[in-house]
Amino acid sequence: MKEKTDFLVIGSGIAGLSFALQAAAHGKVAVVTKQDISESATNYAQGGIATVSSEEDTFDAHVQDTLVAGAGICHEDVVRMVVEEGPKVIRNLIDWGVQFTKSGDAYDLTREGGHSARRILHAEDITGREIERALVEAAKRHENITIYENHIAIDLVTESKVLKQKLEHNRCLGAHVLDKESGVVKTFAARITLLASGGAGKVYLYTCNPDVATGDGVAMAYRAGATIANMEFMQFHPTTLYHPNARSFLISEAVRGEGAVLKRRDGTAFMEKYHHLKDLAPRDIVARAIDNEMKTYGDDCVFLDIRHRGAEYITSRFPNIYQTCLEYGIDMTQEMLPVVPAAHYLCGGVQVDFNAETDIKHLYAIGEVAFTGLHGGNRLASNSLLEAAVYAGRAYEHAVQVLKDEEFSFPLIPEWDAGTATNSDEMVVVSQNWDEIRRFMWNYVGIVRSDKRLARAMRRIELIQDEIEEYYWNFIVTSDLIELRNIATVAQLIVACAQMRKESRGLNYNIDYPGVDDQNWKRDTHIKKKF
Ligand code: SIN
Repeated sequence: MKEKTDFLVIGSGIAGLSFALQAAAHGKVAVVTKQDISESATNYAQGGIATVSSEEDTFDAHVQDTLVAGAGICHEDVVRMVVEEGPKVIRNLIDWGVQFTKSGDAYDLTREGGHSARRILHAEDITGREIERALVEAAKRHENITIYENHIAIDLVTESKVLKQKLEHNRCLGAHVLDKESGVVKTFAARITLLASGGAGKVYLYTCNPDVATGDGVAMAYRAGATIANMEFMQFHPTTLYHPNARSFLISEAVRGEGAVLKRRDGTAFMEKYHHLKDLAPRDIVARAIDNEMKTYGDDCVFLDIRHRGAEYITSRFPNIYQTCLEYGIDMTQEMLPVVPAAHYLCGGVQVDFNAETDIKHLYAIGEVAFTGLHGGNRLASNSLLEAAVYAGRAYEHAVQVLKDEEFSFPLIPEWDAGTATNSDEMVVVSQNWDEIRRFMWNYVGIVRSDKRLARAMRRIELIQDEIEEYYWNFIVTSDLIELRNIATVAQLIVACAQMRKESRGLNYNIDYPGVDDQNWKRDTHIKKKF
């Protein structure tokens, strides 16, 4: 079955939908999304979106905070561009119907770790849900946007793949996509393809990401031959709720921004030992401090204490966090919250230029799937929604110009060939490998790494990948198999980049190289598939 579209958008968070809403003025847009349209990481973002909007704040200060958090390897030109385009994209979001929390006539600004000023716009403590609500409503109203829910992309189709030859300038022609309900693989021929498929937290055993975060975009782009960068920088959020049934529910950094203090079980505050900004130190430092306290004292978790702000303030500022914790039997107005770190945000990804274009022509990547150079070795809190919105605008402007400038006819893409594949009777292979990858990634490639642990992880990934490939070619593809294949690829890329970087910087901490090596490593790691 073949579909033709001007713009194929893979993913339906802030990145995909804000691109789609702009591109729809110029052609037909197909938005392909793995589950319900709202099920994206955006929907779960609590904190907010950082931008300079108060008299007391400056672009220079936001740039400086981003560079400091990024541990010396942010691309400064990208940082400045993103920060300065912030106010413009916030206006777009407000025009599409996003309602940020106000304090009187002005927008309320909150604070998070690493920010020297209050500059984070938020919608109570469910900012992402509010952004997603507004964008989904606007996208559903647009006659040029068709939404394909429960559709998972399997692989990109490129010119070199179709012609079965290596090309100097490869071009993306669309993607093969599985309709999860019918089991039919559809061929989408697209003039422009945009990856906006989010991150890869599910590569780790503990993550606050939704189940859809299986690194699909990075894995597909890698298989298609795009350059991937800085995959060693997986950000662990310091504070997710520690409760057997909570599945790593995020306790927003804004809670610390509004005064919460990290403590040990006996009530001793400990962040002063680690950084002068204490509980608002950059995230990599806070996560490592918690890891160290837990290991030193043999505790399963640490605690977050905001009781001193009083019940009225806590319940009105953090209604969602308060209510959710209460459902797990914890009243944060009366008790300390038990918290642990969990995988949260992938700072590396598919390498793109200033216009979000990858090194495969007509293939763009924005949001968490992309590596722009903004985050460096550690992302500053609440910079990611901003990055996605800014690059959606740039990708749209560039893509529209490309379509005007270039002659383009729809390419002949072969339909999906299932060969002699049969239905599998061994689904246990998928679940076993899935569990194994996530567990060794957590234990060997987590907050603290070593050469030996990385080598162990790589050996296991190679074995598992052989098994997955055999399975992939012999059996009819399912959504679970596609995701397993993707998390295995992403795990391999994370380990490979971590093995390249022989130093400790930002989120990559390796006990065999405990210091920063500016002479050799003040730069990105890159990786590209060999054909
Ligand atoms: C949070 O609310 O702590 C998450 C914000 C972010 O990761 O940018």
